[in-house]
Amino acid sequence: MKNKKITRKITQGIYVLTTNGGGCIVDSVSQVSAGDNPFIAVAVMKNNYTNELMHKNNHFALSVFGMNSNPEIIKIFGMNSMRNINKFAKIKTKTIENQKIIEDTLGYMICEKIDTIENETHTLFIGQLIEGDVYKDEEAMSYNYYQEHKDELIKVKTAKGQVAWICKICGYIYYGDLPKNFKCPSCGVGTEMFEKQES
Ligand SMILES: Cc1cc2nc3c(=O)[nH]c(=O)nc-3n(C[C@H](O)[C@H](O)[C@H](O)COP(=O)(O)O)c2cc1C
Repeated sequence: MKNKKITRKITQGIYVLTTNGGGCIVDSVSQVSAGDNPFIAVAVMKNNYTNELMHKNNHFALSVFGMNSNPEIIKIFGMNSMRNINKFAKIKTKTIENQKIIEDTLGYMICEKIDTIENETHTLFIGQLIEGDVYKDEEAMSYNYYQEHKDELIKVKTAKGQVAWICKICGYIYYGDLPKNFKCPSCGVGTEMFEKQES
């Protein structure tokens, strides 16, 4: 492939995908039909806990991340697993149609799951929009903007002399010297995809 970065020209946003029991940050969201209740597709990595939940549950929600939404939400939902922490402990939510919605976003879409497509790494979940609202008519954050500005958006604070390694794909943070054969526990890539940060 000459340059895979061309895929970044597909306009994608940043969303908090929630479903009963958990959720994670996703960018791979697309409206794939039209009408009052369009189909919405979202691709979720198979090793994410959210994938298990999405298989079990019949509904999911997408809260749309804005340019002024708190980047801490990306850190909590995108760089941690609900297997290890309660992502909802510090984040304000409201419950609509039995789904947890993230308050500090531009609005939400609630979908009823209607189909799934599996590939090696991801499951594509297709839902039908059953409810939605706009809280703030402001600009949504694009995935490309996030990639271009993630250093300042989610800057990792290290103590003097401490080293952190950040996964360039998903943002997972490893503190200390990276073991030789380390694989990102969040997205599976090797050490070559990690960037060093120290203060
Ligand atoms: C900007 C950004 C975009 C992401 N996009 C996706 C995505 O489209 N699909 C996905 O499965 N994970 C995506 N992730 C990774 C998950 O949010 C991350 O692996 C999360 O820790 C999974 O948590 P869980 O184990 O609780 O499901 C993204 C992370 C970030 C920071």
